[in-house]
Amino acid sequence: RLRCARVLQLTLAIIKPDAVAHPLILEALHQNILENDFFIVRRKDLIWRRSDSERFYAEHKGRFFYQRLVEFMSSGPMRAYILAKEDAVTHWRELMGPTKVYQARYTSPRSIRALYGLTDTRNTTHGSDSSESAEREIAFFFPEFSVQHWLEMQEPYFR
Ligand code: PPS
Repeated sequence: RLRCARVLQLTLAIIKPDAVAHPLILEALHQNILENDFFIVRRKDLIWRRSDSERFYAEHKGRFFYQRLVEFMSSGPMRAYILAKEDAVTHWRELMGPTKVYQARYTSPRSIRALYGLTDTRNTTHGSDSSESAEREIAFFFPEFSVQHWLEMQEPYFR
């Protein structure tokens, strides 16, 4: 196992269409990422087809919010990041706060979703929930990117 893989973890973060649509919120979130010492490995602005949205959220198929989620996520531009940091998955999820915006406002009033989220669907950001999901989601957004290769490239810095 690579030494750097014990220190650096990758996560996939999305700034959702509701936040990308507001230039000041988009800028604030980008600054937030930098101020929290995440290293931006890759970044991509894109628009999903409905079929991309359905594929990405396939695990939620059948839930009451599935249609509106799929619809919303393919409604306009979004931004995806591969972020690196120690415990990146947990740190990014802590910054985002709970999925549900009203819960976020009570339990984590300074979190991203508490500050900028509109509803449980238009909740500003997404973050991988584990290292395994991160690898899957990174491959979804950045098929040309190899996690293993990237970690190998960092290895000299950890000698
Ligand atoms: S849950 O309820 O624990 O399964 O929720 P979670 O796994 O955190 O994420 C579910 C994703 O669906 C989006 N979504 C909603 N969740 C709950 N309730 C409603 N009404 C809803 N509408 C949409 C939610 O934002 C999560 O999206 P991602 O992109 O994964 O954060």
